[in-house]
Amino acid sequence: MARQKWGSRWAFVLAAIGSAAGLGNAWRFPYMAYSNGGGAFYIPYFVALFIAGIPILMAEFGVGQGFQASAPKAMRKISKGAEFIGWWAVITGAIITFYYNVIMAWIFNYLYHSLGVAWKNDPKGFFFGDFLKLTDGPGQLGGLRWPIVIGLFIAWLWVYLILRKGTESVGKTVMWTVPLPIILLLILGIRGITLPGAATGLNFLFEPNFAKLADPRVWANAFGQIFFSLSVAFGVMIAYGSYNDKKNDIANNTIITALGNSATSFLAGIAVFSVLGYMAQQTNVPVDEVVSGGVGLAFVVYPQAISLIPGGPIVQSIIGLAFFVMLLTLGIDSAFSLVEAAEAAAGDKFKINMKSFLIGFSIVGFIFGLIFATQGGLYWLDIIDHFMGTYALLVVGILESIVIGWIFGAKKLRDYINSVSEIKIGSWFDISLKYVIPIVLIFILALNIADEIKNPYGGYPGWSLAIGFLVFILVPILAVIFAKIPSKDEKYDVVEKEITFEEE
Ligand code: PHE
Repeated sequence: MARQKWGSRWAFVLAAIGSAAGLGNAWRFPYMAYSNGGGAFYIPYFVALFIAGIPILMAEFGVGQGFQASAPKAMRKISKGAEFIGWWAVITGAIITFYYNVIMAWIFNYLYHSLGVAWKNDPKGFFFGDFLKLTDGPGQLGGLRWPIVIGLFIAWLWVYLILRKGTESVGKTVMWTVPLPIILLLILGIRGITLPGAATGLNFLFEPNFAKLADPRVWANAFGQIFFSLSVAFGVMIAYGSYNDKKNDIANNTIITALGNSATSFLAGIAVFSVLGYMAQQTNVPVDEVVSGGVGLAFVVYPQAISLIPGGPIVQSIIGLAFFVMLLTLGIDSAFSLVEAAEAAAGDKFKINMKSFLIGFSIVGFIFGLIFATQGGLYWLDIIDHFMGTYALLVVGILESIVIGWIFGAKKLRDYINSVSEIKIGSWFDISLKYVIPIVLIFILALNIADEIKNPYGGYPGWSLAIGFLVFILVPILAVIFAKIPSKDEKYDVVEKEITFEEE
């Protein structure tokens, strides 16, 4: 069976931008920039983008496209012993979808709650109390929250429908789910900056604090943000690259994807901080007391700002809808891209029929997701995300860059990339892949571990963090088992020393 292909270059590029631009751009980036030096953060941010982000993304597109393979198969083509790294990446990604879709479920609910601004003057009480009915800690799961369960069902159904016809249905979806959130961010941004007090908010985001650049943590955060934001190390970009023709331009596509992703982040920063400035002015508190990131920003702080926007309930409902539709369409492409990475991996190795895989995966994803749809689910979401989004990402990133940079050879990959790309890449690519990326990631990992020991994450009870750690450790074990199972495809095991064009 021939490998599926993207219908057009834009289908691929939009799908890649869609995966990269996710909730992280809207709720992680602005807060990250604000708390790591404001305007000065753009220095480490762009340094990280150019010396690590673009090279690793290019490498992932390159091996996916060059070997016409998902992450585990591409790793296998480089070295037999490396296959498990690809599985580690995609299984981690699969686990992420279990809770990412729960966040999608919350957003579905908030579309509804936006109508009439259901949180009134108490968005915090509404979110944690009325909506989540949050328990006191991870030890108490409480009952299932049915509105979330229903939202979760819708989220999985949607993912299934988008992926059902592979690149064909994905291509059609990203034509609107990628531009729409950008348009909505523009609208929200314009509304934001025309509100009184917006400038104060934007000052907090852009005013440079250069002293911060002396702190290695700020640099670590910049690199971490870039890696997470570009959706690397979870097998997504390798799978997406594998649906291109071997002769597709790689350098160009990488740069467009990376810059499109960053543009979305900046736009989100403006949309968020202008409104925070307005809210600070209205409530007479300093901006730094209202800022937040993550769940708190999306479901508490921004909703609170919405209820202060002039124009009455109808205008507020419309802004609320715009905000949550923006989050939904921003997040959905990231969610299904992770499922696609797993599907590509399973398809390559086990020749599983795409539709059966998707149905099975969606059901399993829904069932596992129920843990996060309980009253204590938020705690578990946070704990598991900490281990997957931070530790697994770092370890897989280190291993992947070593396998591609050293075992396959950065130079060989670069020769292939240059043979198909308009822009020619210099030897900085080799230095980045072989030295900069592994060294920087090892450094970040060490910093994280040191912090973790001093200050266990989130103040959660030790046993609950131990469970998070257990999940983290179980993934590579499972990955090794998957790698050991013989493939149904006899060509799967052939190690390739070069990327050639013969088969085409
Ligand atoms: N890049 C996404 C974001 O910024 C998160 C993500 C990571 C999605 C990895 C898919 C794969 O939100």
